Amino acid sequence: MIIAVDGPAAAGKGTLARALARRYNFHFLDTGALYRMVGLAVLKAGKDPKDEAAALAAARGLKPDLMHEQDLRAEDVAAAASVVAANLKVREALLGFQRQFAQRQPGAVLDGRDIGTVVCPEAEAKIFVTASPQVRAERRHAELAERGEAPTLDSVLADIHARDERDRTRAHAPLIPAKDAYVLETSQMTREQALNAAVAYVETRRTR
Ligand code: CDP
Repeated sequence: MIIAVDGPAAAGKGTLARALARRYNFHFLDTGALYRMVGLAVLKAGKDPKDEAAALAAARGLKPDLMHEQDLRAEDVAAAASVVAANLKVREALLGFQRQFAQRQPGAVLDGRDIGTVVCPEAEAKIFVTASPQVRAERRHAELAERGEAPTLDSVLADIHARDERDRTRAHAPLIPAKDAYVLETSQMTREQALNAAVAYVETRRTR
């Protein structure tokens, strides 16, 4: 079984997707980390994320050890990720790995922007997680503060707006709920409430 979890920046997709994977004993893939790794590799090479050749070289030569870099969760890396993610060739270079991962047994949970629409349109369960920009900015601000980064709430909100805008308006695999997705609005929910709602939905979609 494949569970697709999509949504805008800092909506709580990762937390929810991980919790679902634990609940069902499924494999979990954070696809945003792949785009962050490409963004980070480009920055480390001293290149501009808008440089398409540099981004494609980074995507094709992706080093798995970047996954463990502390910087992966930084806001400038997130911004670079969303710039390289607009590049169709970069997206294509990352597609095979994601699709293969999705086939893992007994099931897989993937979180991202285009899992239910492009990577796994055949997913049995599709959840689109959202929350208001203000709530998402507060959650990301707290997460960054915990990691020792201290940007202002306003700058986190501005980053989130800019990234959502780039992700929604791009030509390839834009951020949009799949037609058959279950939309989960979590602004007023605790993590536990969001998980319970997601599990109730997945139970209606279970194939085994
Ligand atoms: O954790 P957060 O929601 O802030 O971001 P992320 O999931 O780590 O994704 C970082 C960036 O990668 C996004 O802003 C997207 O531009 C891009 N991305 C994408 O294009 N497609 C995906 N399946 C996952 C991420």
